[in-house]
Amino acid sequence: MAPTINWKELGFTYMQTDCFVTAEFRNGTWGAPQVQTDVMVPLHIAASCLHYGQAAFEGLKAFSRRDGSVALFRPLENQARIAATARRLVMEPPTDAIFMESIRLLIERNRSWVPPYGTGASLYVRPLLIGLTPRVGVKPADDYLLAVLCMPVGPYYKDGFFPVRAFIQEQYDRAAPHGVGNVKASGNYAAGMLGDIDGKNKGYPICLYLDSATHSYIDEFGTSNFLGITADDTYVTPDSSSVLPSITNDSLQQIAGDFGMKVERRRIQVGELSELKEVGACGTAAVITPVYSVTRGDTVYTFGSEKEAGATLTRLFKEIQGIQYGEIEDRHGWMVTV
Ligand code: PLP
Ligand code: COI
Repeated sequence: MAPTINWKELGFTYMQTDCFVTAEFRNGTWGAPQVQTDVMVPLHIAASCLHYGQAAFEGLKAFSRRDGSVALFRPLENQARIAATARRLVMEPPTDAIFMESIRLLIERNRSWVPPYGTGASLYVRPLLIGLTPRVGVKPADDYLLAVLCMPVGPYYKDGFFPVRAFIQEQYDRAAPHGVGNVKASGNYAAGMLGDIDGKNKGYPICLYLDSATHSYIDEFGTSNFLGITADDTYVTPDSSSVLPSITNDSLQQIAGDFGMKVERRRIQVGELSELKEVGACGTAAVITPVYSVTRGDTVYTFGSEKEAGATLTRLFKEIQGIQYGEIEDRHGWMVTV
């Protein structure tokens, strides 16, 4: 049972719920998902996840709706992405059935932890895939663990949908062309920490990364995709082989299309920032973070007001949240009731 939680005060922090769910791939086959209550997982000290980074994760949310139902936002996209990450890191991808059954069981057993409708909070679901086999030679594991945990989370920014200042981080790159930036490898987040901390120390809550080959084109923020709105209300987002294909970004592009906006996925030169009227960072956790300014050396590009998000980002944000909470028709069939 969930203890008394002030749902409106939740941040984005780890919390232990009643249980989590695991499934193991052993002897060439996936076993059935099992409920686990002990959060300490026994691991062989030579497991391939520990030494050689055979580790991948996902993040998705479940929402309580007015009618009492609980629905996940586009979980099959997360399944497809963890499978893509697994293939890139030569790990065993969980099947659709194992992935979905693990999440269904997780939510069934943690029902009291799903924040109620109207609180602005949601249940964050975190699937993790790791290689278990002891290895000292560099080669893929034979056995894998899928563990799926969850925790209630609040709106990412407690004070609401307020613009932040971003910093172009050029001292440390986070992803290379043809590397692993386009998949959700756990090691990518370690690779990004130093750059993000450096940005924070300089006073910028988020860092924007450029293509690491030439530092001429925009890639993405440390943990979210880049989107811009041009003066004629076109939605632009980078086309790059080292950017994670964000499910939020894909959804916002479809919504922008529904609104009759033009959508362009193409390479975006840094200098084009001066032509944008709105900039946002998008991802599951925050949905959209409006960006007020982007600083590169002595150049500061600004977008709209420092006090409030622009009109187009606000409209996109309200629409996607409305679909997630079941207040707006799910016209693309994104929500999966569990
Ligand atoms: N880019 C990176 C590097 C991320 O870690 C995330 C978060 O998952 C995203 C983008 C946003 O992806 P999504 O919208 O699927 O959460
Ligand atoms: C997101 O879900 O938007 C993220 O950025 C994931 C992050 C917490 C690793």
